[in-house]
Amino acid sequence: MSQELVEAAQAARERAYAPYSGFRVGAAVEAGSGSVYAGCNVENASYGLTICAERVAVFKAVAAGEQEITALAVVSGPGATPCGACRQVLAEFTLQPEELRITVVNGRGDRRFYTLGQLLPVSFSGEELGLLT
Ligand code: THU
Repeated sequence: MSQELVEAAQAARERAYAPYSGFRVGAAVEAGSGSVYAGCNVENASYGLTICAERVAVFKAVAAGEQEITALAVVSGPGATPCGACRQVLAEFTLQPEELRITVVNGRGDRRFYTLGQLLPVSFSGEELGLLT
């Protein structure tokens, strides 16, 4: 599955819309159903409206009816790890951050492996709000 996710992320990176930064990112998530959803970063002339590849992939999964993310692959030139905002969004869709596998890939295809628990320990969750069970 890791290989399929990486290939989906690499293909999505080809579709990155990054005319301002030139920093092209592709991501793919595996959801609870086993389906894969891919995304790329989408920039905007109003820079702050830019959205990362990882969040595009997660939001596509949720819009398709998924509520659990089990794995992520993210590809960029230097092999950057997901930003803090994307880590928090991923945390929303797993009950077990230490089981959400993250594969970080650079432009040469070299891979590093993490879990969300490693990248976002002691995260904030809906339970803190006292509204969700
Ligand atoms: N970006 C991502 O897509 N994912 C990340 O984890 C970090 C940053 C994008 C946002 C922006 O289009 C470009 O990379 C430079 O920050």
